[in-house]
Amino acid sequence: MEQSLVIIKPDGTARRRVSSLVLQALLDRGYKIVAFQEMMVSESLAKLHYAVHSEKPFFPWLVEFISSAPVLAMIFESNGVIQGVRDALGATFVQKASPDSLRGKYGIWAGINIAHASDAPETAISEIALWTSEGGLVESPEAETSARAYILKYINGDADYTMALREVVKNAIESHDKSVKILKSLKDLFSKDAAGISKDRTDNLAKVVFDFIKEELEKAK
Ligand code: RTP
Ligand code: MG
Repeated sequence: MEQSLVIIKPDGTARRRVSSLVLQALLDRGYKIVAFQEMMVSESLAKLHYAVHSEKPFFPWLVEFISSAPVLAMIFESNGVIQGVRDALGATFVQKASPDSLRGKYGIWAGINIAHASDAPETAISEIALWTSEGGLVESPEAETSARAYILKYINGDADYTMALREVVKNAIESHDKSVKILKSLKDLFSKDAAGISKDRTDNLAKVVFDFIKEELEKAK
């Protein structure tokens, strides 16, 4: 049976309602979940997971992003699940993702795109081997029950903050604003629906998003 490694990245997990909506949408497609764990990603796991991108200019940022705050690490299992989850997520860059895809609905900006999913059978096998050995992810008969309990707990949150976060990032880039006010807005927004995640961690995520804005402004010079 085909398996896929699916990670709700920090920008998804720190918004509890968003992560539960993404999970629900994937379960609605009929996929089984055989591993489900919230965890921090170590720098070494992040570097190995994104090794294919190690020569790219955005690699150091990507490692900081994925390890900034907790992720939901999962193994999905079903026929056709690899392509199916990729289709549900949509294009890598949020602005290019179709508005009815999950990244189009809940992604924040560019590669701050709420989730990762394995892209082919070989990468799924190697990613699952990596996350089970280095990341401590384990298959469990309780995984699906835990995922459904997570959804029930968080899906009725008052807001998902996607539009507010997009506005902050878009306005900062368009008006070349890298003032501390922007960082403060990001810190406020990321802490609003982050039950069980410390303020230090949501602040860290906000800082990584702020670093992305600063890098975009540098590139535009
Ligand atoms: P993922 O691996 O996270 O499922 O995403 P993907 O296959 O759709 O995209 P991939 O090319 O593998 O890129 C991995 C992640 O790196 C970030 N990214 N930033 N130019 C950039 O700034 C850039 N390009 C990629 C995104 O977070 C992307 O998901
Ligand atoms: Mg990829």
